[in-house]
Amino acid sequence: MSAAADTTGLTFRQDYFADHAAWRALVSLLHDTFGIDIGPLMQLGGPDATSMPFGWFAGDGTLAANLSAFAVPLLINGRRINAAGLQSGAVRPPWRGRGLYRDVTTKALDWCATQGFEAIVLYTDKAALYEPYGFRTLPMHSFSGDAPVPLGAAECRSIDPGNPDDFALLQDLLARREPVSDALAVASSPAMFLINTQLDPDVRLTFIEQLPAVIAWKLDGGTLILLDVLAASIPPLAAILGGLGVRPDRIEALFRPDKLGWNGEPTPVSAHGTHFMIRGLDGLALDAPAMLSPMADF
Ligand SMILES: CC(C)(COP(=O)(O)OP(=O)(O)OC[C@H]1O[C@@H](n2cnc3c(N)ncnc32)[C@H](O)[C@@H]1OP(=O)(O)O)[C@@H](O)C(=O)NCCC(=O)NCCS
Repeated sequence: MSAAADTTGLTFRQDYFADHAAWRALVSLLHDTFGIDIGPLMQLGGPDATSMPFGWFAGDGTLAANLSAFAVPLLINGRRINAAGLQSGAVRPPWRGRGLYRDVTTKALDWCATQGFEAIVLYTDKAALYEPYGFRTLPMHSFSGDAPVPLGAAECRSIDPGNPDDFALLQDLLARREPVSDALAVASSPAMFLINTQLDPDVRLTFIEQLPAVIAWKLDGGTLILLDVLAASIPPLAAILGGLGVRPDRIEALFRPDKLGWNGEPTPVSAHGTHFMIRGLDGLALDAPAMLSPMADF
Protein backbone atom coordinates (compact mmCIF):
# COMPACT_ATOMS: atom_id res chain seq x y z
CA MET A 1 0.00 0.00 0.00
CA SER A 2 3.00 2.31 -0.02
CA ALA A 3 4.06 2.61 -3.70
CA ALA A 4 3.87 6.19 -5.00
CA ALA A 5 1.07 6.97 -7.43
CA ASP A 6 1.84 7.68 -11.08
CA THR A 7 0.55 11.25 -11.37
CA THR A 8 2.20 12.08 -14.71
CA GLY A 9 0.39 14.99 -16.41
CA LEU A 10 -1.94 15.56 -13.47
CA THR A 11 -2.26 18.37 -10.93
CA PHE A 12 -3.47 17.84 -7.38
CA ARG A 13 -6.11 20.19 -5.97
CA GLN A 14 -7.79 20.17 -2.57
CA ASP A 15 -10.83 22.19 -1.40
CA TYR A 16 -11.67 23.23 -4.98
CA PHE A 17 -15.50 23.58 -4.83
CA ALA A 18 -15.38 27.40 -5.06
CA ASP A 19 -14.03 26.99 -8.62
CA HIS A 20 -17.13 26.45 -10.75
CA ALA A 21 -15.28 24.65 -13.55
CA ALA A 22 -13.71 22.24 -11.08
CA TRP A 23 -17.12 21.59 -9.46
CA ARG A 24 -18.55 20.85 -12.93
CA ALA A 25 -15.66 18.41 -13.48
CA LEU A 26 -16.73 16.54 -10.33
CA VAL A 27 -20.39 16.52 -11.45
CA SER A 28 -19.19 15.02 -14.75
CA LEU A 29 -16.95 12.41 -13.04
CA LEU A 30 -19.82 11.21 -10.82
CA HIS A 31 -22.25 11.17 -13.73
CA ASP A 32 -19.89 9.15 -15.90
CA THR A 33 -18.89 6.78 -13.08
CA PHE A 34 -22.13 6.21 -11.16
CA GLY A 35 -24.84 7.63 -13.47
CA ILE A 36 -25.94 10.15 -10.81
CA ASP A 37 -26.37 13.89 -11.26
CA ILE A 38 -25.38 16.01 -8.25
CA GLY A 39 -25.64 19.21 -10.38
CA PRO A 40 -29.03 20.18 -8.83
CA LEU A 41 -27.30 20.52 -5.47
CA MET A 42 -26.15 24.01 -6.53
CA GLN A 43 -29.83 25.12 -6.65
CA LEU A 44 -30.45 23.52 -3.24
CA GLY A 45 -28.02 25.47 -1.11
CA GLY A 46 -24.80 24.02 -2.58
CA PRO A 47 -22.56 21.19 -1.40
CA ASP A 48 -22.12 20.54 2.30
CA ALA A 49 -20.15 23.49 3.68
CA THR A 50 -17.78 21.13 5.47
CA SER A 51 -16.82 19.30 2.24
CA MET A 52 -13.12 18.81 1.59
CA PRO A 53 -12.52 17.32 -1.89
CA PHE A 54 -9.19 15.81 -2.94
CA GLY A 55 -8.73 15.55 -6.70
CA TRP A 56 -6.21 14.97 -9.47
CA PHE A 57 -6.96 17.10 -12.57
CA ALA A 58 -5.73 16.61 -16.14
CA GLY A 59 -4.45 19.57 -18.16
CA ASP A 60 -7.80 20.07 -19.93
CA GLY A 61 -9.64 20.39 -16.60
CA THR A 62 -10.95 16.79 -16.55
CA LEU A 63 -11.11 15.38 -13.05
CA ALA A 64 -9.22 12.07 -13.25
CA ALA A 65 -9.53 10.97 -9.62
CA ASN A 66 -11.43 12.21 -6.60
CA LEU A 67 -12.42 11.49 -3.02
CA SER A 68 -14.24 13.96 -0.77
CA ALA A 69 -14.53 14.09 3.01
CA PHE A 70 -17.22 15.97 4.91
CA ALA A 71 -18.52 16.19 8.48
CA VAL A 72 -21.49 13.96 9.25
CA PRO A 73 -22.37 14.08 12.94
CA LEU A 74 -23.99 10.77 13.86
CA LEU A 75 -25.94 9.18 16.65
CA ILE A 76 -24.74 5.63 17.31
CA ASN A 77 -26.01 3.57 20.26
CA GLY A 78 -27.42 6.76 21.76
CA ARG A 79 -24.07 8.55 21.64
CA ARG A 80 -23.30 11.56 19.47
CA ILE A 81 -20.25 10.87 17.32
CA ASN A 82 -18.18 13.54 15.60
CA ALA A 83 -17.82 11.57 12.36
CA ALA A 84 -16.60 12.30 8.85
CA GLY A 85 -18.03 10.75 5.71
CA LEU A 86 -16.10 9.84 2.59
CA GLN A 87 -17.95 10.21 -0.69
CA SER A 88 -17.55 10.85 -4.43
CA GLY A 89 -14.72 8.31 -4.71
CA ALA A 90 -13.90 7.55 -8.35
CA VAL A 91 -11.08 7.33 -10.86
CA ARG A 92 -11.76 7.65 -14.61
CA PRO A 93 -10.88 4.43 -16.53
CA PRO A 94 -7.79 5.78 -18.37
CA TRP A 95 -6.18 6.66 -15.05
CA ARG A 96 -7.02 3.51 -13.07
CA GLY A 97 -4.38 1.13 -11.72
CA ARG A 98 -1.82 3.92 -11.14
CA GLY A 99 -2.34 4.29 -7.40
CA LEU A 100 -4.42 7.47 -7.68
CA TYR A 101 -7.24 6.18 -5.49
CA ARG A 102 -4.79 5.01 -2.85
CA ASP A 103 -3.28 8.52 -3.00
CA VAL A 104 -6.55 10.42 -2.51
CA THR A 105 -7.68 7.93 0.16
CA THR A 106 -4.49 8.50 2.14
CA LYS A 107 -4.83 12.27 1.78
CA ALA A 108 -8.49 12.20 2.88
CA LEU A 109 -7.73 9.99 5.90
CA ASP A 110 -4.79 12.20 6.91
CA TRP A 111 -7.02 15.27 6.69
CA CYS A 112 -9.69 13.57 8.83
CA ALA A 113 -7.01 12.78 11.43
CA THR A 114 -5.92 16.43 11.57
CA GLN A 115 -9.56 17.49 12.03
CA GLY A 116 -9.96 15.20 15.04
CA PHE A 117 -12.93 13.14 13.78
CA GLU A 118 -13.75 10.20 16.07
CA ALA A 119 -14.87 7.95 13.23
CA ILE A 120 -15.08 7.86 9.44
CA VAL A 121 -17.97 6.27 7.54
CA LEU A 122 -18.66 5.48 3.89
CA TYR A 123 -20.88 3.47 1.56
CA THR A 124 -19.32 1.16 -0.99
CA ASP A 125 -19.95 -1.95 -3.07
CA LYS A 126 -16.21 -2.73 -2.79
CA ALA A 127 -15.53 -3.42 0.88
CA ALA A 128 -12.13 -4.94 0.03
CA LEU A 129 -11.00 -1.53 -1.19
CA TYR A 130 -11.32 -0.05 2.29
CA GLU A 131 -10.58 -2.97 4.63
CA PRO A 132 -6.78 -2.39 4.39
CA TYR A 133 -7.40 1.06 5.94
CA GLY A 134 -9.24 -0.43 8.95
CA PHE A 135 -12.82 0.07 7.74
CA ARG A 136 -15.34 -2.61 8.78
CA THR A 137 -18.90 -3.25 7.64
CA LEU A 138 -21.81 -2.43 9.94
CA PRO A 139 -24.80 -4.63 9.06
CA MET A 140 -27.99 -2.73 8.15
CA HIS A 141 -31.56 -3.85 8.95
CA SER A 142 -34.92 -2.52 7.82
CA PHE A 143 -38.04 -3.04 9.95
CA SER A 144 -41.40 -4.35 8.77
CA GLY A 145 -44.71 -5.13 10.39
CA ASP A 146 -48.45 -4.44 10.37
CA ALA A 147 -49.44 -0.80 10.15
CA PRO A 148 -50.96 0.80 13.26
CA VAL A 149 -54.44 2.36 13.12
CA PRO A 150 -54.03 5.95 11.85
CA LEU A 151 -54.60 8.70 14.39
CA GLY A 152 -55.97 12.20 13.67
CA ALA A 153 -57.27 13.97 10.59
CA ALA A 154 -55.54 13.96 7.23
CA GLU A 155 -54.07 17.39 6.64
CA CYS A 156 -50.97 17.44 4.52
CA ARG A 157 -49.39 18.75 1.33
CA SER A 158 -46.60 17.73 -1.01
CA ILE A 159 -43.29 19.51 -0.71
CA ASP A 160 -41.22 20.56 -3.71
CA PRO A 161 -37.62 21.44 -2.76
CA GLY A 162 -37.43 23.56 -5.94
CA ASN A 163 -40.16 25.87 -4.59
CA PRO A 164 -38.55 28.68 -2.51
CA ASP A 165 -41.13 28.52 0.31
CA ASP A 166 -40.89 24.73 0.56
CA PHE A 167 -37.11 24.94 0.42
CA ALA A 168 -37.12 27.41 3.35
CA LEU A 169 -39.42 25.06 5.29
CA LEU A 170 -37.08 22.12 4.65
CA GLN A 171 -34.01 24.14 5.65
CA ASP A 172 -35.70 25.20 8.89
CA LEU A 173 -36.64 21.62 9.80
CA LEU A 174 -33.24 20.29 8.73
CA ALA A 175 -31.57 22.76 11.11
CA ARG A 176 -33.85 21.80 14.02
CA ARG A 177 -34.35 18.09 13.39
CA GLU A 178 -34.27 15.46 16.09
CA PRO A 179 -32.27 12.39 14.98
CA VAL A 180 -34.84 9.92 13.63
CA SER A 181 -33.38 7.11 15.78
CA ASP A 182 -31.09 6.82 18.79
CA ALA A 183 -29.56 3.59 17.45
CA LEU A 184 -28.15 4.97 14.19
CA ALA A 185 -29.01 8.27 12.52
CA VAL A 186 -27.51 11.49 11.28
CA ALA A 187 -27.69 14.28 13.84
CA SER A 188 -27.39 16.72 10.95
CA SER A 189 -26.71 16.33 7.25
CA PRO A 190 -28.87 18.83 5.38
CA ALA A 191 -27.10 18.72 1.99
CA MET A 192 -27.42 14.94 1.75
CA PHE A 193 -31.13 15.03 2.55
CA LEU A 194 -31.70 17.71 -0.11
CA ILE A 195 -29.77 15.97 -2.91
CA ASN A 196 -31.41 12.64 -2.05
CA THR A 197 -34.82 14.22 -2.69
CA GLN A 198 -33.62 14.64 -6.29
CA LEU A 199 -31.99 11.26 -6.86
CA ASP A 200 -35.00 8.95 -6.35
CA PRO A 201 -38.12 10.17 -8.19
CA ASP A 202 -40.31 7.70 -6.25
CA VAL A 203 -39.68 9.37 -2.90
CA ARG A 204 -42.63 11.53 -1.81
CA LEU A 205 -42.06 14.46 0.51
CA THR A 206 -45.14 15.40 2.50
CA PHE A 207 -45.58 18.15 5.09
CA ILE A 208 -47.99 17.51 7.97
CA GLU A 209 -48.42 20.93 9.55
CA GLN A 210 -50.10 19.86 12.79
CA LEU A 211 -47.12 17.69 13.81
CA PRO A 212 -45.17 19.56 12.23
CA ALA A 213 -43.06 17.14 10.19
CA VAL A 214 -41.92 16.38 6.68
CA ILE A 215 -42.23 12.68 5.87
CA ALA A 216 -40.10 10.99 3.17
CA TRP A 217 -42.05 7.94 2.03
CA LYS A 218 -43.04 5.62 -0.81
CA LEU A 219 -45.97 3.32 -1.46
CA ASP A 220 -45.41 -0.20 -2.76
CA GLY A 221 -48.86 -1.76 -3.12
CA GLY A 222 -50.25 -2.00 0.40
CA THR A 223 -46.88 -1.30 2.03
CA LEU A 224 -45.82 2.17 3.10
CA ILE A 225 -42.04 2.50 3.00
CA LEU A 226 -40.91 5.09 5.51
CA LEU A 227 -37.53 6.59 4.59
CA ASP A 228 -37.20 9.47 7.04
CA VAL A 229 -39.03 11.84 9.37
CA LEU A 230 -37.89 15.43 9.52
CA ALA A 231 -39.16 17.02 12.72
CA ALA A 232 -37.97 18.81 15.85
CA SER A 233 -39.77 16.06 17.79
CA ILE A 234 -40.39 12.69 16.10
CA PRO A 235 -44.16 11.97 16.07
CA PRO A 236 -45.70 8.49 16.53
CA LEU A 237 -46.23 6.42 13.39
CA ALA A 238 -50.01 6.40 13.96
CA ALA A 239 -50.07 10.22 13.81
CA ILE A 240 -47.91 10.18 10.66
CA LEU A 241 -50.35 7.80 8.93
CA GLY A 242 -53.30 9.92 10.12
CA GLY A 243 -51.70 13.10 8.81
CA LEU A 244 -50.85 11.49 5.47
CA GLY A 245 -54.41 10.17 5.16
CA VAL A 246 -53.28 6.68 4.17
CA ARG A 247 -54.24 3.25 5.48
CA PRO A 248 -51.49 0.86 4.39
CA ASP A 249 -51.55 -2.80 5.47
CA ARG A 250 -47.84 -2.97 6.16
CA ILE A 251 -44.98 -0.65 7.10
CA GLU A 252 -41.34 -0.96 6.15
CA ALA A 253 -39.17 1.51 8.05
CA LEU A 254 -35.72 2.18 6.61
CA PHE A 255 -34.31 3.21 10.00
CA ARG A 256 -34.70 1.76 13.52
CA PRO A 257 -38.19 2.89 14.61
CA ASP A 258 -37.31 3.44 18.27
CA LYS A 259 -39.16 6.77 18.43
CA LEU A 260 -42.29 5.88 16.45
CA GLY A 261 -44.33 4.03 19.10
CA TRP A 262 -44.32 1.02 16.77
CA ASN A 263 -42.18 -2.06 16.38
CA GLY A 264 -41.19 -3.97 13.26
CA GLU A 265 -39.25 -7.15 12.62
CA PRO A 266 -35.65 -6.46 11.60
CA THR A 267 -34.59 -7.84 8.22
CA PRO A 268 -31.00 -7.68 6.92
CA VAL A 269 -30.63 -5.20 4.07
CA SER A 270 -28.14 -5.51 1.27
CA ALA A 271 -29.04 -2.95 -1.38
CA HIS A 272 -27.14 -4.15 -4.47
CA GLY A 273 -24.28 -5.37 -2.28
CA THR A 274 -23.74 -1.93 -0.73
CA HIS A 275 -21.80 -1.91 2.54
CA PHE A 276 -21.98 0.78 5.20
CA MET A 277 -18.45 0.88 6.63
CA ILE A 278 -16.91 2.57 9.63
CA ARG A 279 -13.37 3.19 10.83
CA GLY A 280 -12.51 4.08 14.41
CA LEU A 281 -14.41 3.90 17.73
CA ASP A 282 -12.31 0.90 18.82
CA GLY A 283 -14.29 -1.73 16.95
CA LEU A 284 -17.67 -0.53 18.27
CA ALA A 285 -20.67 -2.50 16.95
CA LEU A 286 -24.36 -1.55 16.88
CA ASP A 287 -26.14 -2.45 20.16
CA ALA A 288 -29.33 -3.21 18.24
CA PRO A 289 -30.25 -3.81 14.58
CA ALA A 290 -30.48 -0.46 12.77
CA MET A 291 -30.09 1.28 9.43
CA LEU A 292 -29.03 4.74 8.33
CA SER A 293 -31.97 6.37 6.53
CA PRO A 294 -31.56 6.39 2.73
CA MET A 295 -32.21 10.16 2.93
CA ALA A 296 -28.77 10.37 4.60
CA ASP A 297 -27.11 8.33 1.83
CA PHE A 298 -23.92 9.86 0.51
C1 LIG B 1 -12.24 1.44 -7.46
C2 LIG B 1 -11.42 2.57 -8.10
C3 LIG B 1 -11.70 3.85 -7.33
C4 LIG B 1 -9.95 2.20 -7.98
O1 LIG B 1 -9.16 3.28 -8.49
P1 LIG B 1 -7.62 3.09 -8.93
O2 LIG B 1 -7.01 4.43 -9.06
O3 LIG B 1 -7.54 2.17 -10.07
O4 LIG B 1 -7.04 2.36 -7.63
P2 LIG B 1 -5.50 2.33 -7.21
O5 LIG B 1 -4.66 2.09 -8.44
O6 LIG B 1 -5.18 3.52 -6.38
O7 LIG B 1 -5.49 1.05 -6.30
C5 LIG B 1 -5.62 1.19 -4.91
C6 LIG B 1 -5.76 -0.17 -4.28
O8 LIG B 1 -7.11 -0.62 -4.48
C7 LIG B 1 -7.07 -1.93 -5.05
N1 LIG B 1 -8.25 -2.01 -5.93
C8 LIG B 1 -8.45 -1.42 -7.10
N2 LIG B 1 -9.68 -1.71 -7.59
C9 LIG B 1 -10.27 -2.50 -6.66
C10 LIG B 1 -11.54 -3.14 -6.58
N3 LIG B 1 -12.44 -3.02 -7.55
N4 LIG B 1 -11.80 -3.89 -5.48
C11 LIG B 1 -10.88 -4.04 -4.49
N5 LIG B 1 -9.67 -3.45 -4.50
C12 LIG B 1 -9.36 -2.70 -5.59
C13 LIG B 1 -5.78 -1.99 -5.79
O9 LIG B 1 -5.37 -3.32 -5.96
C14 LIG B 1 -4.84 -1.22 -4.91
O10 LIG B 1 -4.42 -2.04 -3.84
P3 LIG B 1 -2.98 -1.77 -3.14
O11 LIG B 1 -3.06 -0.41 -2.48
O12 LIG B 1 -2.86 -2.88 -2.16
O13 LIG B 1 -1.98 -1.81 -4.24
C15 LIG B 1 -11.78 2.75 -9.62
O14 LIG B 1 -11.68 1.51 -10.25
C16 LIG B 1 -13.19 3.31 -9.83
O15 LIG B 1 -13.38 4.51 -9.90
N6 LIG B 1 -14.20 2.42 -9.95
C17 LIG B 1 -15.57 2.82 -10.14
C18 LIG B 1 -16.14 3.61 -8.98
C19 LIG B 1 -15.88 2.97 -7.64
O16 LIG B 1 -15.99 1.77 -7.49
N7 LIG B 1 -15.54 3.81 -6.62
C20 LIG B 1 -15.09 3.38 -5.32
C21 LIG B 1 -16.09 2.66 -4.55
S1 LIG B 1 -17.19 3.70 -3.67
